[in-house]
Amino acid sequence: MTVGETLVFVAFGSNEGDREQHLRTALQRLGATPGIVVVRTSQLRESTLQGHGPAQGAFLNGVVQLRTTLSALALLGVCKALEGMAGRRLPAPRNHPRPLDLDLIFYGQERIDTRELVVPHPRWHEREFVCEPLRELGVDLDASPRHVAPRVYEPPIEFAAQCSEWLAGGCVVGLVPTMGALHAGHRSLMAIARRECDRVAATIFVNPLQFGPNEDFAAYPRDLTGDLAICAEAGVDAVFAPTVAQMYDPEFCSHVAVGAAAQGMEGALRKDHFGGVATVVARLFAIARPHRAYFGEKDAQQLAVIRRMTRDLGFPIRIVGCPIVREADGLARSSRNVYLGAADRAASTILHRALRSAQGAFVRGERDRDALLARVRAVLATEPRAEVDYVELRSEGALAELPPGPVDGGRLLVAAKFRDGARPVRLLDNLSLREGADLA
Ligand code: PAF
Repeated sequence: MTVGETLVFVAFGSNEGDREQHLRTALQRLGATPGIVVVRTSQLRESTLQGHGPAQGAFLNGVVQLRTTLSALALLGVCKALEGMAGRRLPAPRNHPRPLDLDLIFYGQERIDTRELVVPHPRWHEREFVCEPLRELGVDLDASPRHVAPRVYEPPIEFAAQCSEWLAGGCVVGLVPTMGALHAGHRSLMAIARRECDRVAATIFVNPLQFGPNEDFAAYPRDLTGDLAICAEAGVDAVFAPTVAQMYDPEFCSHVAVGAAAQGMEGALRKDHFGGVATVVARLFAIARPHRAYFGEKDAQQLAVIRRMTRDLGFPIRIVGCPIVREADGLARSSRNVYLGAADRAASTILHRALRSAQGAFVRGERDRDALLARVRAVLATEPRAEVDYVELRSEGALAELPPGPVDGGRLLVAAKFRDGARPVRLLDNLSLREGADLA
């Protein structure tokens, strides 16, 4: 190796046309490129497609070891050009037959994580058609760098650095803030973020600022190992799980004050709750600087407060509200559901049934606000286990008070306590009067 050179491994494959000819031509062209020296090439091996795709012939694969003075991005450009010269159309549909595929596996010891290029290749160790040739070329696979997902960050500065690297690499970054105890509702936020973003980061932090002195901060369910498994399954790239001291240093004293969006309903019952939510979310936004952030519609007032705070403080972030995920019997998924005793769990479906009943009345033409609210209360009253905190009908989105007169839509919101489980549980639910209804 001469000064300025980097040792690189590139995996190659072909399963269309004259496979061997495509590979030999590509290797010759690589070797003839200024700044690239071919050191060694593995034998060719046959493999079948990994993953789902249309029926197709077997691949011929191998790995080539190079020395290069080119940057990783320039080398990627050369590989793409060679794929094009072999007749591959780019962007190519995933897992379709291709005359030539060149993948950068290792570029020295560098870790690169940009929109165009992730090195080490994220899945090299899962592919025998890459591992075998690497072994043949004398690479110690156990000592080789692996891309582990999700990477877990505790200190804010390290998580911020990871997000900055993605942003500098042109990635669209999505943030899924959570307090852990992840369930299907969180999984759906992650799935939506995964579809819309190049990189997805989830945060797991039980935020003391949003719990009152008599609330369940200490008892809030915590299961980091289970949460990380869910994040890995959901394809999350990074998890930020700081300690309280890392998130709020001892001198921490700057808080977000929230206004009208936080008044009434949860805001009336949980003093300072939304100030605590807005403060932690603002801090998460400042650390990660995502393009998009994902929140569940179950906590509709929280969503309204966060939308307002984001606008007021000028964060250039798209807030994405995601539909409520329910159990088969209608109960909205929530981390606190685990604390419901069996009888309360059975009774808890009353919330959704009450909302559905009023929605049904609206669909059939009821436009009187008091009648709609009375309908929710009447159904709730059939379940003595539910101690109702409030029933409200507010505007969609901002959850503002509706003007007097006949209602033309809006969102019904309800909260109730159940007391017979391991500890008292407050459940929230809401439903748009127009949701899923064919009102034509
Ligand atoms: O909805 C939650 O889990 C929390 O309130 C949030 C938004 C993560 C802030 O701590």
